[in-house]
Amino acid sequence: MSGNFTFPENFLWGTATSPTQVEGHVVNEWTDYVASDGGHCRVACNHYHRYEEDVDWMAQLGVNAYRMGIEWSRLQAAPFAPLDQKELARYIHLLDCLKAANITPMVVLHHFSNPPWISAAGGWLNPATIPAFVDYVTKLVASLKDRVYLWNTFNEPDTYASLTYLLGGFPPFHKWNFRSYRKVIKHMAEAHVLASRVIRQNTFSREPEVGIAKNWTSFGAFQAFALWDHLLAEVSHHAFNRFVLDAFLGGQRHENSTFLGVNYYGRARLNHFQALVPTNGVSHKRLKQLGIVCDDMFERHPTGFGKLLKKFHRRYGLPIYITEHGAASTDEDFRIRDLSEHLHELHGAMNDGVDVRGFFYWSLLDNFEWQFGYSKKFGLLSVDFADEKLPRRITRVGEFYGGICKAREKTAR
Ligand code: NOJ
Repeated sequence: MSGNFTFPENFLWGTATSPTQVEGHVVNEWTDYVASDGGHCRVACNHYHRYEEDVDWMAQLGVNAYRMGIEWSRLQAAPFAPLDQKELARYIHLLDCLKAANITPMVVLHHFSNPPWISAAGGWLNPATIPAFVDYVTKLVASLKDRVYLWNTFNEPDTYASLTYLLGGFPPFHKWNFRSYRKVIKHMAEAHVLASRVIRQNTFSREPEVGIAKNWTSFGAFQAFALWDHLLAEVSHHAFNRFVLDAFLGGQRHENSTFLGVNYYGRARLNHFQALVPTNGVSHKRLKQLGIVCDDMFERHPTGFGKLLKKFHRRYGLPIYITEHGAASTDEDFRIRDLSEHLHELHGAMNDGVDVRGFFYWSLLDNFEWQFGYSKKFGLLSVDFADEKLPRRITRVGEFYGGICKAREKTAR
């Protein structure tokens, strides 16, 4: 990226992970899950035991923010139970290590996992999950309010609800149950509103900020005249974007978010009802023949990023955090190019007046990518999973991104 880039001085240049993907030793619905590459999350990156070292790596990279999950299943053994003090102390120590390294935490309260007792009671289909979650949040926030002011209630509710109840990819692996999909979204939206009120009732040393992280995929038809693909794209857009944003931010609900988190990876174009992306089993060779640029998961569409930010700014008028962007590939040049192109778009949108407060690269570490196990390489640090010591190493993308993070003072406007 050229040196002409300027970002606000207090801009957060961060990175992100989630508990099930990096911590290891979790007891939730993913514990016994075996991914398509044979991998499981039982040890993952062992961030659970190695968080101090991982904070050192973050400091070495030069990031000044870390979007991290706190795993509900570790902290509450039963509905409305007191928080497990030992596990809480571990998270508090992690937050203190971050503080010592001048790294601002953003805490994610729900990232695709639940305590076993929630799953056993029907998960987010059961309305009783809402007060149970709010109770957990109440207790957690009371314990962390001196250390955390950035709260991300739900990560990608649409991804979670669709993979659990429409596409059968996440436990409990149901398929095509639209009623369940809608119910989960509505319950999560209700829980977001209540959790947000609870968070903001507390007194913080710094004004709290609360929001969801919305995954954004734009859907379109690959061929201009394929009417059915256009129709399916419109239906998908409605179900996964519009309906979800309305549930969380529509009408009065808007007041319960102080920011909008955006996870942006790209787009899905449909061809004869099939999404032309690698995660759908379409080969790289075929995608290349069609002129579609992808990482190992999705189609890249950097210009869509800038447009989206402007649209969100106009529609919601909320400050935005890019809660995730990254690319999965072993081709580091590709990943560097991808990051650079997206930062160009981000910078352009900010120059046009969009209030973006931070950018969190997905991910700090190569990690457990849910259904795909360890086959997708997203890390600023690579992890050698074949070696039981799980050695970390800064990738070239890590060096590139770290360079931008470290230059932030020089380029601040
Ligand atoms: C979104 C999810 O929040 C995260 O868990 C996942 O690993 C990345 N996208 C990449 O697919």
